[in-house]
This record gives sequence, C-alpha cells and structure tokens, in this order.
Amino acid sequence: MTVEDPYRARYGPGAPTDLPDRWSDLVAAQLAHRSVRAYLPDPVSDATLTTLIAAAQSAPSSSNLQLWSVVAVRDPRRRARLAEVAGGQWHITEAPLLLVWLADLARARRIAAEAGASGEGADYLESALVAVIDAALAAQNAALAAESLGLGTVFAGALRNDPLAVSRELGLPAHVFPVFGLVVGHADPARPTGVKPRLAQRVVLHHERYDDSTQADGIGDYEKLLADFYTEAGLEPSWVRRVAERFGSVAGLRGRDRLREAFRRQGFQLR
Ligand SMILES: Cc1cc2nc3c(=O)[nH]c(=O)nc-3n(C[C@H](O)[C@H](O)[C@H](O)COP(=O)(O)O)c2cc1C
Repeated sequence: MTVEDPYRARYGPGAPTDLPDRWSDLVAAQLAHRSVRAYLPDPVSDATLTTLIAAAQSAPSSSNLQLWSVVAVRDPRRRARLAEVAGGQWHITEAPLLLVWLADLARARRIAAEAGASGEGADYLESALVAVIDAALAAQNAALAAESLGLGTVFAGALRNDPLAVSRELGLPAHVFPVFGLVVGHADPARPTGVKPRLAQRVVLHHERYDDSTQADGIGDYEKLLADFYTEAGLEPSWVRRVAERFGSVAGLRGRDRLREAFRRQGFQLR
C-alpha cells in the first residue's frame, strides 16, 4: 500500500497530494477505521477485554482524575434490552460484547467526602464535562486497540435516547452517567463496510485564525462524494439533509432533548 492510498479512501479524489514525511502503522490503522454494524457471534475473550481496558486506561485523563468507568455487557438478554433503548440497533445483540462508558463522579465524590471535603466542585458543568471527555478519550483508545487486534467496533450514542433506562439496567448509582456504548466483536466478512470519506481538510483545518470562507464549496464537494457511499449502503444519499434533519427539529434528537433532566436525575447538578 502506498501512502497515497489511505488518504484517497478517506478523502476521495480531493485527497491531500503532499506526501507525509512521517508515517506509522498506527496512523495507517487510524485512517483505515470504519464502523462495523455486522458481526459474527464469535466471543471476545476475557484476556482481550483486559487488553482493551488497559488501552483505555492508557489514554490521557484530565489531572489524572480518571473520572470514568465502563460496564462490559455480555448477557444476550441485557444486550437485547439495551439495543431496544438504542432504537433497535440489532448489531448490539449480534456482537458478543457491549462496553458502556460512564462519566463517573461517584468515585471522586466518595474520595472527597472521606477526606472531609464537601465535593461541591463535582456539581459544576465543568466536572461533568471533564468526566465525559475522559470517558470519550478512553473509549476511543479501546476502539482503536480493538481494531488493531482485528476486531470491529461501533459506538452506540443512541443509548442516550433513554439514559435512565440504561442506568437502571446497569445498576448505576447516583453521580454516574452512561455516555455511550461501544459494540465490540468480529466483523462478518460476508457483510463488509467501506471507509467513509470525511470533509476535506480545508473545511475543518484553520491556520492561526478561524476562516470559514472555504466551507461552502468544501461542503458541496463532500455532498457529491458521500452520495455514492450512502447510495451503495442503501441510505439517504445526502449528508446535508442528514445534518439538517438532526438539528432541524427537536424530534431529530430522539429523546435526547431531555438530557439535562436525565443528568440531574442521576445526581449531576450541572451548575
Ligand atoms: C459518540 C458516537 C456515537 C455514535 N453512535 C452511533 C449509534 O448510536 N449508532 C450507530 O450506528 N453509529 C453510531 N456512531 C458511529 C457513527 O455513525 C460513525 O462513526 C460515523 O458515521 C462515521 O463513520 P465511520 O465510523 O465508519 O467512519 C457513533 C459515533 C460516535 C463517535
């Protein structure tokens, strides 16, 4: 594989033409990423789970507070109930392992209380944000590790359609919030997935100061590029319409418009 190939898969005909002066297997793996939604029933071993969690815990963590936890769900009936919460995403039941990543302020609050501190800092939006960011960085480390071991993954943000149902299902205490799931399993080679192109770098990369003058034509190019990808997958062929629908009405949020309330019910004040 030449170094031009992965750029092409990620960006299509408008791929960067300057050749990298440094390259690595890790970058190649990152550029080859694709979400997998078709799995074989083959199990993921406990030893592999240990490796994925070690990769996750190796991610940076804000002030090393490690404000996250994860629940590994293997029970098929529990996964089926969680797939239901996620709007019927049946790959959650097809794959053998679902990791539910949690913003976890309970541990830090307990440590603060035992040290005689009020813990009131945990009631602020900043603390919830730090916990969510920590969880996301850890989860992405685990996802990339899984891919490097030949496994497939897909995130399941749709668990936030009903975070309180997820919390009940997983027995989450107060001050712990389910951020998203990560499905892990063996991709079914009979139902392969392609690399999904991304926006051109000129749309997302700014130099020194924010400049949106290249947005319009970059988005136009991307719309054309992605139409083929979506058509092949049998999906609505317009990225622009997807974005517009997601933000065009509260209904597009699929219940996640009540997230602040769900956070509060889990004990997060978000001050
Ligand atoms: C936080 C997060 C939540 C996601 N939630 C879902 C989901 O609920 N269902 C799903 O099928 N894909 C989900 N995805 C996967 C995205 O749809 C996918 O990453 C995106 O379309 C780009 O495709 P790719 O990962 O194959 O490159 C999620 C991704 C992220 C980062």
